[in-house]
Amino acid sequence: AGLFLYIERMTKMLKDKSILLVISGGIAAYKSLELIRVIKKAGGSVRCILTKGGEQFVTPLSVSALCEEEVYTDLRSLKDETEMGHIRLSREADIIVIAPATANLIAQMAHGRADDLASTALLASDKPALIAPAMNVRMWENPATQENITKLTEYGHTIIGPNEGDMACGEYGMGRMLEPDEIFDAIVGTLGKKPLAGKTAIVTSGPTFEAIDPVRFIGNRSSGKQGHAIAAALKLAGADVTLVAGPVSIPAPAGVKTINIETAQQMLEACENALPADIAVCAAAVSDWAPKQHDQKIKKRDDTSPPSTELNENPDILKTIANHKNRPEIVVGFAAETENLEDNAKAKLSRKNCDIILANLVAQEGAEIFGKDQGHVYCITPSSVDNWQPMSKSAIAKKLTDTIINSLNNTETLKSAAE
Ligand code: CTP
Repeated sequence: AGLFLYIERMTKMLKDKSILLVISGGIAAYKSLELIRVIKKAGGSVRCILTKGGEQFVTPLSVSALCEEEVYTDLRSLKDETEMGHIRLSREADIIVIAPATANLIAQMAHGRADDLASTALLASDKPALIAPAMNVRMWENPATQENITKLTEYGHTIIGPNEGDMACGEYGMGRMLEPDEIFDAIVGTLGKKPLAGKTAIVTSGPTFEAIDPVRFIGNRSSGKQGHAIAAALKLAGADVTLVAGPVSIPAPAGVKTINIETAQQMLEACENALPADIAVCAAAVSDWAPKQHDQKIKKRDDTSPPSTELNENPDILKTIANHKNRPEIVVGFAAETENLEDNAKAKLSRKNCDIILANLVAQEGAEIFGKDQGHVYCITPSSVDNWQPMSKSAIAKKLTDTIINSLNNTETLKSAAE
């Protein structure tokens, strides 16, 4: 019955929706063939523009066979212009998806160029696009690309990904295109009814830095990847998200209101200012203590022993939000446990008065979960313990968002039954 329901859901998800897919020249282009298949399976129709570069990686024949439509490759081809002009191509689509989006196509879009069919159709389009970048890590990190990405976000486009991982060129880093199912989720999230529309969410993410003196601090290795992915997933589901982020090197997700802080005290203030909210997810690695700060840099002196630092306990942000007079309906916390995961996480759940705890078992890995793309969490509620198995942090974010949606729906059903 479960499988049947899933297929039933899949087949309806993109019914009557038409997607214009632009495939540009990257090795990830082969994944776009799978994307076409999944869109078709979900009832959507796909028209495809294949750039000259794209044609080097996938053939027009395989694309058109999967789309069951003609493939559009050439701006100056009379046939394309008479039967389906570039204006119509973009106007008749419900959504434009660019996957893979190469550094070159991104640059063309950021600079308003129109020198081939893809860039011309994109310039002539009247709607924002979902852009799935795919390129070498250095190309992605290049300030020119980052500037172009910022511009495209300002123009209203949504950048999805890239992921971190091994690259076709043998290097490792950010630049891998999202997987077809992740792009599919982004399409559904953009087109479909947004289950969290009208809801507000607060997400904490990253580390906190607590100053010892003007140049030194106590911090930790949290990358913010999990918290940022949760903020992006809640946003994609339609929530109005405030992300309270400690010092991290990853970009803030598109469309999310981001407040950058350094200390636990500042994080607490930003969270309290963002209340009331319907959902709170505390994914930050908050420093438990803050040193008594010295006004001047502590000097090293040969004749004295090393200085000792007095530590004061920081506020517990999760606990404060969960016991606030404006308590959100759903409060989610994280736990890092080295033993007795279930008992410890359940105790933490009730001690901090939250509804869900995502618990990491960090017995062997220790601090190594920091910065990684994968995670292995157990989802713990007062009545259940669910092993989510190892998966990417963005998949954990998506699963948590689904769990929150279900939980809110159940509360609303109970409320209306009581009325
Ligand atoms: N948290 C918080 N404010 C703090 C400390 C923690 O909001 N000052 C939140 C974290 O964001 C996370 C959860 O509380 O959601 C983690 O709780 P914590 O008590 O720090 O547990 P562990 O890190 O698992 O460590 P320990 O078991 O030592 O308590």
